[in-house]
Amino acid sequence: MKEKKEEKLYICKPCGYVMKESELQDVCPACGLPKKVFEQYKERMSPGRSKILHLDLHPIAVHFPQTTLVFALQALLINLFFPNFYPEILLGTAKFSAVIFPFTVFGAFLSGLIDGKLRFKSVTTPILKKKIIYSTVMLIASFFTPFLAWKGIDDFQSKIFLLICGTIALICGIVLGHVGKRLMNIGMGGAVKIWGRKF
Ligand code: HEM
Repeated sequence: MKEKKEEKLYICKPCGYVMKESELQDVCPACGLPKKVFEQYKERMSPGRSKILHLDLHPIAVHFPQTTLVFALQALLINLFFPNFYPEILLGTAKFSAVIFPFTVFGAFLSGLIDGKLRFKSVTTPILKKKIIYSTVMLIASFFTPFLAWKGIDDFQSKIFLLICGTIALICGIVLGHVGKRLMNIGMGGAVKIWGRKF
C-alpha cells in the first residue's frame, strides 16, 4: 500500500498559527503578518501521544459537568424566585442534575489527568497541581449533591445548601477553564489550535 507522506507544518512565530505547507498564503490568516514570519513547525510529542491528545477527550469531557451544573443552578434559582413556575419540572431537573453531577466531574478529572500526562508527561507541574487542587474541591462539592437530591430538595434549606455546593463547584469550574485554556495554548505553540485543518 502506498504510504501517505506527511506534509510539513509551518508556524507563524508571532501569533502561533500553524498551517500546512500547501496552505501557506502571502500573509498569516490569523494575524495578517507577511509569510516570511513563518518557520517550520516541529511536533514536540510522539505520534502516538499526539493522536490520543487530538481526540480532545478532556476538552469534550469538561462540558458535561459545566452543562449539568448550569442546568441545576438555573432550575434552582428560577424555583426559588418563582415557586409556582413549573415546580415539578424545575425541581426534577435540579434533582436529576444533582445525581449525575459527581460522575461528570469525575470524568473531567480523569480525562484531565490523562491529557496532562500526555501533553506534559507529568501532572505535578505547578499549573497542573493548581488544576488538581481546584478539581478536588469541585469533586468534593459534587459529592454532596446526590445526597441532597436523595433526601429531597423541596424545603428552602436544602435548596440553599444545594445552591452553595453548586456555586463552589461553579467557581472551581471557571478557574479550571481559565487555567485549562492557557494550557491548550502552550501545548499548541500559540493562540490557535490546528489539526492539519483550517480553523
Ligand atoms: C473537573 C475538573 C476540570 C475541569 C472542569 C477542567 C476544565 C478545563 C477546560 C475548560 C479546559 C480548556 C479546554 C478548551 O479550551 O477546549 C481544560 C484544559 C486542560 N486541562 Fe482541565 N479541567 C479539569 C481538570 C483537569 C485536571 C485534573 C488536569 C490535570 C492535572 C487538567 C489538565 C488540563 C490540560 C492539560 C488541558 C489542556 C487541554 C489538553 O491537553 O487537551 N484538567 N480543562
